[in-house]
Amino acid sequence: MPLRSKITGTGAHLPDQVVTNDDLAKKVDTSDEWIVERTGIRERRIVREGETTSALAFQAAENALEAAGLTGQDIDLVVVATTTPDNTFPSTATKVQAMLGMDHGAAFDVQAVCSGFVYALSVADNFIRAGQTKRALVIGAEVFSKILDWEDRTTCVLFGDGAGAVVLEAQEVEEGEQTGILSTHLHSDGKLRDLLYVDGGPGTNGQVGHVRMLGREVFRHAVTNLASVVGEALEANGLTQDDIDWLVPHQANKRILDGTARKLGLPAERVVVTVDRHANTSAASVPLALDEAVRDGRIKAGDLVLMEAMGGGLTWGAALVRW
Ligand code: ACO
Repeated sequence: MPLRSKITGTGAHLPDQVVTNDDLAKKVDTSDEWIVERTGIRERRIVREGETTSALAFQAAENALEAAGLTGQDIDLVVVATTTPDNTFPSTATKVQAMLGMDHGAAFDVQAVCSGFVYALSVADNFIRAGQTKRALVIGAEVFSKILDWEDRTTCVLFGDGAGAVVLEAQEVEEGEQTGILSTHLHSDGKLRDLLYVDGGPGTNGQVGHVRMLGREVFRHAVTNLASVVGEALEANGLTQDDIDWLVPHQANKRILDGTARKLGLPAERVVVTVDRHANTSAASVPLALDEAVRDGRIKAGDLVLMEAMGGGLTWGAALVRW
């Protein structure tokens, strides 16, 4: 019988430090009014000195494992999606593996910036479908505050830190049965690299670097690419937008969320929104939003959940899940 991935637990973790738009207005020439109107963001969480991506990832993973009724020893694959690893190497995933007390299995990072969680979910799902993994932890974790130019008002107001995680378990299903992760769809276009990148790294100037972005261009590509990949995911499963119970989008900007929902003809009540409180947490944003909607009871067994994201690369993708 075919193997499918079932999401059996979700978890999240946010730094306790809240930074409001008014706090930022004391540092750069901006205002709460401008940020809310252009992005929908009201506040974000920012790590304190010494708080790392692996620490956030570990806490989110622990919460997801608890929800699934499992421990680290039950997991045989850890995939961490991050753009802000603790070190250039080893991977943040191997650090999390050690923190979880796992002495077996495999762990590695996936780098697709804001699309990272959807990419990591796709990788882990394919390990499960191939029979190579029984239980996987997929984590999106970022400390984007570490790669922001805090003097650049066009980028520093948009991002936040955090982590979210899911546990995937292999399940045998009947041929054609639509359960668990139905399909994942990934895309990239490296020619669009200059729209959103970090001006540093081991191969350039040896510095960590800062986020540089042509916001308007990114915005334009986001709405088009997201609507397109969502259409692709629905079509691949013989479904339509009317079948979607919950859209869990990457939380970049409320206007991108509204634009995508409008293109899909989805009412706002079926879109999970956290960007107002978390800002854009890159690879962490989808699992953070997912965890919130699972824990507050919005997402229920049998619901059709559509996740989508776009980020630097450019990369974009979607995952369709029957909960
Ligand atoms: N506060 C006040 N004014 C600002 C700020 C700020 N924080 N940032 C920019 N401005 C000014 C600009 O300097 C400009 O002033 P000017 O007209 O005097 O030159 C004016 O506001 C308008 O700037 P635009 O960049 O044209 O504003 P826009 O309406 O496009 O909004 C934004 C900018 C919010 C960045 C928007 O383009 C956007 O959200 N783009 C998507 C980018 C994104 O979300 N990237 C995240 C990573 S990719 C992803 O996750 C999908």
